[in-house]
Order: sequence, then structure tokens, then C-alpha cells
Amino acid sequence: MKKIVIAIDGYSSCGKSTMAKQLATALNYVFIDSGAMYRAITLYFLNNNIDIKNDTAVSNALNNIHLKFVYNEAEGKSDILLNNENVETAIREMKVSEYVSTVAAIEAVRIFAVAQQQQMGIAKGIVMDGRDIGTTVFPNAELKIFVTADVDTRVQRRLTELHNKGNMNISFAEVKQNLISRDHIDSTRTISPLRQAADALLLDNTHLTREEQLNIILNWVKERSGNY
Ligand code: DC
Repeated sequence: MKKIVIAIDGYSSCGKSTMAKQLATALNYVFIDSGAMYRAITLYFLNNNIDIKNDTAVSNALNNIHLKFVYNEAEGKSDILLNNENVETAIREMKVSEYVSTVAAIEAVRIFAVAQQQQMGIAKGIVMDGRDIGTTVFPNAELKIFVTADVDTRVQRRLTELHNKGNMNISFAEVKQNLISRDHIDSTRTISPLRQAADALLLDNTHLTREEQLNIILNWVKERSGNY
């Protein structure tokens, strides 16, 4: 059974992480949510008032950041630790969502995160989701998927997720504004902008159930790995 690298990229709140987690469980692969790394770095910058216009301050801050994923049995996925503290909930807060695309556009931040992501892929058998996984992190991934969905569908999914986590004060309009703004910053930044790799397979999941989506992808995995 040949283990492969699966790169999943796409717009914000397309369900990439849910899809990657489901896929990793089905294949017994490791799942890495690369966005969680940019979110944890952003949380550190916010908590420590790092001036992102000051290159030395950014590089000193990165030297003090240690990121680690630990498997959460109950959730069936990994939680991210920022300097040994589990920040899985804190990184999903709106203040982090509002700032993360700006932080993720900084070159030193991307070099820091990409180097760690590439290390995680050496052993193969990994599903990683993000914005530049198929283009920059794993340009040789055996399977690349670019996910998209109608914007209002994405907003509704994100809103439901936030409401389920108890964030009841956020409106549809606020979430929509945040998604549009992040997609814009992510796809127009100079370094590793969000774009579909030439050899990525496009998946529009607006009208797909999770099960239908998983079946489509498992067939792609079969084609690329010969087995699963
Ligand atoms: O997947 P997410 O929404 O949690 O990602 C948060 C932000 O991190 C997103 O707006 C852009 C950035 N990001 C990135 O630039 N590159 C990645 N590989 C993953 C995320």
C-alpha cells in the first residue's frame, strides 16, 4: 500500500479541514491543518504586541515560537500547541481571524511555517490543507485538490460552526466581510498567493454532502496511489 502526500488548498471556509480530517481518518493518514500554524503565530503576535512592520521584532518573536501538533483522541484530529499551551480554541476567535491573513503574508512567517510543514511530509501518508500546499509546500504531491464553494454557502457553514462553539454575537454580514477580505489578501499577496496549482483537481462542494465528497476524493486517491 503506497502512502502518498495529499495537498488540499482553497478559499476560506470551504470545508477543507473537515474534508482533510475525514480523508485522513479513512486512509489512516496524518492530518495537518496548516492554517492553525498561521493562526497560532498570529495569536502570539497579538498577545505580545509584536509590531509586524519591524522585521527584527518579527524575527525575534518567531525565535520564541514553538509549534507542535498533539493528537486529540476525542476529536479524532490534532490540536495545536503554542509554546506547550493548547490554543485550539483561542486561534478560532474573531480577533485572530481578522488579523491572520496580514500575518500570513509576511515572508519570514511563511519561511518559518513552510519549513516545518515540509518536514512533516517527509514520511508521506499525510493530508495537509491550506492555501499554498500544492504550489509551494508540496509541489510534488501525488494528489492536489483545489476546493471551492459558493460564498454564501461558505459564510453559512462558518457561521454555524461559530454558533456551535457559542459565539452567538457574530452576524452573517460580519462573517461574509471577513471571508471576502481574507480571500482577497490571501490571493493577492506577493509570496505564495492562494491559487490553483496547474495539476490540482478542482472540487466545487457547494451541492455535495460530506459523504459524496469523500467518495469522489477516495476515487482520486485510488487512481494516484494504486490502492488505499
Ligand atoms: O485555513 P484557515 O482559514 O484557518 O487559515 C487562516 C489563514 O492562514 C488564512 O486566511 C490564510 C493563512 N494561510 C496561509 O496563508 N497559508 C496556508 N497554507 C494556510 C493558511
